[in-house]
Amino acid sequence: MKLAVVGGGSTYTPELVDGFARLRDTLPVEELVLIDPAAERLELVGGLARRIFAKQGHPGKIVTTSDLDAGVASADAVLVQLRVGGQAARNEDETWPLECGCVGQETTGAGGLAKALRTVPVVLDIAERVRRASPDAWIIDFTNPVGIVTRALLGAGHKAVGLCNVAIHLQRKFAKLLDVTPEEVHLDHVGLNHLTWERAVRLGGPDGEDVMPRLLAEHGERLAGDLHLPVSVLDRLGVVPSYYLRYYYAHDEVVTEMRSKPSRAAEVAAIEAQLLEMYGDPELDEKPELLSRRGGAFYSEAAVALAASLLGGGAGDVQVVNTRNNGTLPFLPDDAVIEVPARVDGTGATPLPVAPLEPLFAGLVANVTAYEHLALEAALHGGRDRVFRALLAHPLIGQVAYADQLTDSLIAHNREHLAWV
Ligand code: G6P
Ligand code: MN
Repeated sequence: MKLAVVGGGSTYTPELVDGFARLRDTLPVEELVLIDPAAERLELVGGLARRIFAKQGHPGKIVTTSDLDAGVASADAVLVQLRVGGQAARNEDETWPLECGCVGQETTGAGGLAKALRTVPVVLDIAERVRRASPDAWIIDFTNPVGIVTRALLGAGHKAVGLCNVAIHLQRKFAKLLDVTPEEVHLDHVGLNHLTWERAVRLGGPDGEDVMPRLLAEHGERLAGDLHLPVSVLDRLGVVPSYYLRYYYAHDEVVTEMRSKPSRAAEVAAIEAQLLEMYGDPELDEKPELLSRRGGAFYSEAAVALAASLLGGGAGDVQVVNTRNNGTLPFLPDDAVIEVPARVDGTGATPLPVAPLEPLFAGLVANVTAYEHLALEAALHGGRDRVFRALLAHPLIGQVAYADQLTDSLIAHNREHLAWV
């Protein structure tokens, strides 16, 4: 089996490689190609990747290249985990929206739109080249904003599934709190990428007992603390929201906080510089502890499970992925991309039926889906008016004056990345 990672020079790659090494029985990788235009960085990451495989006795070969077409040739699956413009562009996304009192975040709100506009054309171009080189390859997209990027890929007819680690992270966390194995924990996880709620936590199987009330009663404070939300929010809603919901539920509070501290991009840039220095140490042969300060916990386990089910030809297990709605949430268009538990096998991901979504959640999901539709239109076709319409439709913006100001800022800060400017 041959896997390729586009953006293989990412500091996240050792997390992925460690997962491939540990879980080699689930996913027997014979060749892993790390592809990245940043050759120097790729060598540092590739060196550590080889040492991780060697230490864990993994027989697979690790190849590094800056040649995308050669790298993806005859791959069975291609993971896409890139960041157009790097942390510098992310820093902008996190900064200029604050000028009009809106959240500055790389996937939510105006910053998320900027990222979508920079990213969608690049990922579509890569996907076309993957299709030419390896027409049967699966594309696993971890590139944010995952919902919009996956919608773009599926709209262009690619064999693609979107992946995020929020669900697997919560599954692992709940398992620990409940003192059971992760496999026993079945989540009723519903919504859009970075806009999800856990409505039920079932033990033993998809029809098992829902222990959400017990989880909230016994561990509510801890769960709420991790989300920086009052525990009363979890109690009143009876759900555990993803931490991205804080950008909605506590929007103004978040803006005040963001204005008074360095951006996450600046924090991450500092962590990355340290990581790269460590990766260059020929003695280092495992993923360093410092990597856990990035947000990618369990990304590798989710990726291994997904690739194994897409490529394994098995009967199909259930995983939380981003895929086409196709009537699952009946109030959304079929071509919307939703994030829900789905049966995954060699034919792709098929969402399991979802219990009707309460208006409290459905309203936001419908609103953000409409925004994502308009965001994709803007990413595909460009133009100031399309950017404005997407921003106006976003539930965290909504006012004409803000949408106008944010449109101007978005364009001004992203000129070099937007072909139509
Ligand atoms: C989580 C999200 C990812 C996001 C990451 C940010 O893993 O699911 O979509 O990219 O956090 O982490 P960072 O360390 O870059 O802030
Ligand atoms: Mn994510």
